[in-house]
Amino acid sequence: MPIPTALKAFAGEIDSVLDDLIDRAEGHEAKLFDAMRYAALLGGKRLRPFLVVASADMFLVRRDCSLRVGAAVEMVHAYSLVHDDLPCMDDDDLRRGQPATHKKFDEATAVLAGDTLLTKAFEILGARETHELAEVRSDLVHALAIAAGGHGMTGGQMIDLVAEGQRLEIPEITRLQAMKTGALLAFSCEAGAILGRATHTQRAALHGYAHDLGLAFQIKDDLLDVEGDAAKVGKSVGKDATAGKATFVSILGVDRARQQAQMLADQAIAHLRDFGTDADRLRDVARFVVERDS
Ligand code: IPE
Ligand code: IPE
Ligand code: MG
Ligand code: MG
Ligand code: MG
Repeated sequence: MPIPTALKAFAGEIDSVLDDLIDRAEGHEAKLFDAMRYAALLGGKRLRPFLVVASADMFLVRRDCSLRVGAAVEMVHAYSLVHDDLPCMDDDDLRRGQPATHKKFDEATAVLAGDTLLTKAFEILGARETHELAEVRSDLVHALAIAAGGHGMTGGQMIDLVAEGQRLEIPEITRLQAMKTGALLAFSCEAGAILGRATHTQRAALHGYAHDLGLAFQIKDDLLDVEGDAAKVGKSVGKDATAGKATFVSILGVDRARQQAQMLADQAIAHLRDFGTDADRLRDVARFVVERDS
């Protein structure tokens, strides 16, 4: 099944898990839960939870467990997008084809909805239903905390903002992208290995795959900002250049950035050699990431 079709089918499955896990609006704080549901349930490719489940499937992990971990990662991702769109960050009004959360609600509610999605993710990973072994749960919590934190996603977001208007060199942009985008994608792939109690070598191979995949993914995101169609990508385009963002596209130009993304996708696939056909899904994802139009 081609990845776009598989992602569409998967969206129904992960959405019903997210719907069950995120509280329904009630009481004086109802607006908080409404905003969380708005930010997490409406749209998105669901690539990160798809990666969790695809990698977990290689180790025959129970699907209800991998779906819970996928939901937790998607909540962290949704939080990062809500905060990324705030006026104090990228100041974007459109997300997933709809008003950004701070536009639909207000800034304070968007900040709190983001905070609460982040916290909820750790509540889910720590719950017994996610895995019967406390050691596995604590590995998941530890790995996600590192991926989402100052040496991962939020650190990368800080560099992204500090670098506005500056010319970064390729190694610096690579580090920025590996942190802001790669770290969470890497967690998504490694989570399957943690749940499946894979060997150190298998986990390292998945980490290598995800590292290159994350870079390819962000370069394609930057290319879509230049040449994408806003109606398809569901967010404003052309904003990175205006904001003076440091990206591969700003340094290399469109053609070389495209080649770089393709090379990274090939490199990602090369890390999967030892898994044989079990990793075909992940190979297809690497090709999809650089071919996608949204
Ligand atoms: C967008 O991620 C933000 C980046 C890390 C580049 P996605 O392209 O996965 O966004 P959704 O989840 O499909 O909306
Ligand atoms: C966002 O990168 C990365 C995170 C949210 C961690 P971008 O700012 O390029 O993402 P978009 O283009 O707004 O989706
Ligand atoms: Mg940003
Ligand atoms: Mg942005
Ligand atoms: Mg972008």
